Amino acid sequence: MNVPIVRTVAELRATVAEWRREGASVAVVPTMGALHQGHLSLVRTALEKADRVIVTLFVNPKQFNSAADLAAYPRTEKEDAAKLASLGAHLLYVPDAAEIYPDGFATTVSVDGVSDGMCGAFRPGHFDGVATVVAKLFLQTGADLAFFGEKDFQQLHVVRRLARDLDIPITVVGCPTVREPDGLALSSRNVRLTPAERQAAPKLASILFELAGQLTNGAPIGPTLVEARAAIVAADYAQVEYLELRAEETLEPLQALDRPARLLIAAWLGEIRLIDNVKVLEQQGSKGIVKAIVATA
Ligand code: PAF
Repeated sequence: MNVPIVRTVAELRATVAEWRREGASVAVVPTMGALHQGHLSLVRTALEKADRVIVTLFVNPKQFNSAADLAAYPRTEKEDAAKLASLGAHLLYVPDAAEIYPDGFATTVSVDGVSDGMCGAFRPGHFDGVATVVAKLFLQTGADLAFFGEKDFQQLHVVRRLARDLDIPITVVGCPTVREPDGLALSSRNVRLTPAERQAAPKLASILFELAGQLTNGAPIGPTLVEARAAIVAADYAQVEYLELRAEETLEPLQALDRPARLLIAAWLGEIRLIDNVKVLEQQGSKGIVKAIVATA
């Protein structure tokens, strides 16, 4: 069975209206294509949670910082459609740029706070591009549920915030990062790594997991992060853009591990920018220590 493909908002809306008449619930999985097992796990989860699943495929020019990166982004619609058909996705929406950004398009969705810092600092305008297209995809599909990978953890926060702030009636569901057996987080960019880079790539995840363990066991945050950055560079990464400890729920920068947290990183391996993040557990007894300090003050 093929997956039906629609390319216009009108066709998309007509299909969803038909599903609604049948009383079906609808999920959307927004993607830029070049689907890998990470995307497919989102689709599988969406199929478990909703009656109908739409996958969107749109390489969004507004979220790229360089024309070269946009041009190099893999485009594999035929293969993507075959993968989705084998899973049983119900619809593939592949709009072109004029469908999403028609002549005269003048609106930007910009999410303050959670877009600041990290990828927001190193890729100016990136999250405005993401937020604008995701708001459009939410409104065009009218889906009840949307599925995003935790690998893009800052993006997940941006998308949750925009849905809440704009009263878009959709539940945003974050799903765990899918990794290669050697730990490398799956990404559409991984296919562009040279064989030598591909061999070095998993060091990023292993150093991140080790760092998370050290912090949970009470290692001092500042110096331990500095050591981890040096270890990543020693592992053949050309440059670490950022390595930060942020609160899991709010994405605030943390000076103490007093609540559930995430370590987030972006680093360059040759020409390829990779991002990753891992959960960090709250330090054992840290709340007790804070309480004790407050009590004696
Ligand atoms: O994560 C992505 O692939 C993109 O940022 C998204 C959410 C599909 C928006 O273009």
